[in-house]
Amino acid sequence: MSADPLMARPKVTVRTIREMKSRGEKIVSVTAYDYPTARLADEAQVDLILVGDSLGMVVLGYDSTIPVTLSEMVHHLKAVVRAGPRALVVADLPFLTYQASPEDAVRSSGRFIKRGAEAVKLEGGRRMLPQIEAILAADIPVLGHLGLTPQSVHRFGGYRVQGRGREAADALLEDAAALERAGCFAIVLEGVPLELGREITEAVRIPTIGIGAGIHCDGQVLVLHDLIGLTFEKPARFVRRYADAGETIRRAIASFREDVRAGRYPSCEESYASAPERVEKPT
Ligand code: KIV
Repeated sequence: MSADPLMARPKVTVRTIREMKSRGEKIVSVTAYDYPTARLADEAQVDLILVGDSLGMVVLGYDSTIPVTLSEMVHHLKAVVRAGPRALVVADLPFLTYQASPEDAVRSSGRFIKRGAEAVKLEGGRRMLPQIEAILAADIPVLGHLGLTPQSVHRFGGYRVQGRGREAADALLEDAAALERAGCFAIVLEGVPLELGREITEAVRIPTIGIGAGIHCDGQVLVLHDLIGLTFEKPARFVRRYADAGETIRRAIASFREDVRAGRYPSCEESYASAPERVEKPT
């Protein structure tokens, strides 16, 4: 794995993502909301970086994704784009920036594309078809999102697994087929039983990218801060923590505090002098 630009891997496009399903290659995606996390995700060679509206909860401290604004998303998207990722950059349309009309949907998506996003994501199935069709007609690729769609938290009455029971499962299968027909390049499947994750994945030709949707999806996405242990709430069942960054950061800051209070920081080597030879150790 190399950060050397001369060794850069080919740019991932929506076409690459679609072809990965036909080749049976799993798609790997994480969220990123700023320059360093976008660089690190890209150096780790993920396929797709999602500037998710989860940023509202994991970095802005909101208690849901509902308050996130388009301007906040654009601010974070620009930082991600400055990292120059080879991964596909997808920006998430926040609540009420696309639901009201296809015109809203195109304008909001356009703001993302002008700032360097290569596709947009929006939540919802058949009810969102006019919006999806309008965005696609503006030549902007769309990533669908079905299942436990967090912007519908109030309709669901909480963050509950969706698609349990035949009727609910069939409704999601129809939604997935409609998104494929409309031209979405892939679908995020969130918070559905693994059997339904499999059914939908087998029913559509476009890739499914699961989050809490089981092993059978064509790829997996996780919120980066969940994956690295930089969140404060109890993680959802599907989260696997690959690091405890929260503890690492807490310890580092506490060590700094100890060193400053004990007069161990800064050392001579960490200090400047008018002439280098005059740097003396404090007595
Ligand atoms: O906002 C987000 O991070 C998402 C993922 C959880 C899929 O939508």
